[in-house]
Amino acid sequence: MITLHLHFPERTHALPILLAPGLLDRCGVALQEAGLEGPVALVSDTTVAAHYGARVRRSLEEAGFSVLEIHLPPGEGTKTLDMAAVLYRRLAQDGIGRDGLLIGLGGGVVLDLAGFVAATYMRGIAFVSIPTTLLAMVDASIGGKTGVDLPEGKNLVGAFYPPRLLLIDPIALHTLPAAEWRNGMAEVVKAALIGDPTLWQKLRGDPARWAAMPDMETLMDLLTRAIAVKIRIVEQDPLETQGEREVLNLGHTFGHAFERVSGYRVPHGEAVAAGMMAATALSARQGCLEEPRLFQDLEEVLQGLGLPTRWRAWLARYDIDTSPEDIIAAMDTDKKRRGGRLRFVLIHRPGVVRVHSDVPDEAVRQALEETAGL
Ligand SMILES: NC(=O)c1ccc[n+]([C@@H]2O[C@H](COP(=O)([O-])OP(=O)(O)OC[C@H]3O[C@@H](n4cnc5c(N)ncnc54)[C@H](O)[C@@H]3O)[C@@H](O)[C@H]2O)c1
Ligand SMILES: [Zn+2]
Repeated sequence: MITLHLHFPERTHALPILLAPGLLDRCGVALQEAGLEGPVALVSDTTVAAHYGARVRRSLEEAGFSVLEIHLPPGEGTKTLDMAAVLYRRLAQDGIGRDGLLIGLGGGVVLDLAGFVAATYMRGIAFVSIPTTLLAMVDASIGGKTGVDLPEGKNLVGAFYPPRLLLIDPIALHTLPAAEWRNGMAEVVKAALIGDPTLWQKLRGDPARWAAMPDMETLMDLLTRAIAVKIRIVEQDPLETQGEREVLNLGHTFGHAFERVSGYRVPHGEAVAAGMMAATALSARQGCLEEPRLFQDLEEVLQGLGLPTRWRAWLARYDIDTSPEDIIAAMDTDKKRRGGRLRFVLIHRPGVVRVHSDVPDEAVRQALEETAGL
């Protein structure tokens, strides 16, 4: 068992993050040992519930918890205020009170929604997070952000509400579809570039090795390292007020623009992969990149994972024909545009990235031309 901690301000206790194979079957005891009590509402989506709901429920009941199970439809469409209201009413109808404990079991969609409901139901009830996708384990569950989408945009309503306990069982990834593995790996690559040169060397050493889930020891190492990077950055700027957290957006200014021009039809991980290539080209163009080989190495790592590296060729697969100008225009609405200037996270070398607010549009256009492909 590996235990990590995430410290939030104004909280007496740090958030314990437990990582261990088989934790799903021992979650009841883990909750007890963390001093958590109360009737449990176990929120999941139907796919995750079919795989793991019964096991988690059994473990909770064996530890003496009463369990109300709530299953939601899978997919981003579930992350709405309407679905939050459905959950509030189920909790109220089943008599879950302030002493209740809400557990989110699933990917980022379930955890964002369940966390938001826990933050707001009766002004806040205890929340426990059990991520089951790679993306949720290394990214969505770490950092205390919860929320739902509006028709006007993603994640527009939410709260900072860290769970009381985070349980990560890598065995859950055995059933993860290959496309979701790739999606999560895009964020692992990002974490390596932002803050773990050793992890970057491991990814770079044998790109094809990471195309599917590796052996358990390697997987535990990968998870621990990627999570540690996110913890380190979140602790510097827990409420996203000081800017340190912005480095987590490496590849995302481009990535979000790709998602927007596609009408959100492309997977997030693919957009981030193509976005990291553009961001690396921009880093070179701006004279930041100290290791010119990084561009080629990143392309090999992403290709090994089956992720796209050249945006025009990749978007063409989704029947999307767009131009650098359209992509730059799609960036203008990005929340990162402050005071009229776009902000980019540029790579200096693996482990060293910085936010730059002085990047001319022309350099962005050229970086996009350079990484278009076809
Ligand atoms: N709060 C944050 O800081 C944060 C950070 C990044 C992303 N997010 C959010 O996370 C969401 C994306 O999360 P995601 O990629 O985990 O998507 P997801 O929750 O939609 O899960 C992807 C798919 O995998 C299925 N699934 C989950 N676990 C499985 C398993 N173990 N075996 C088989 N199938 C499984 C789900 O049913 C779903 O169909 C987005 O809404 C995004 O906004 C939040
Ligand atoms: Zn992301």
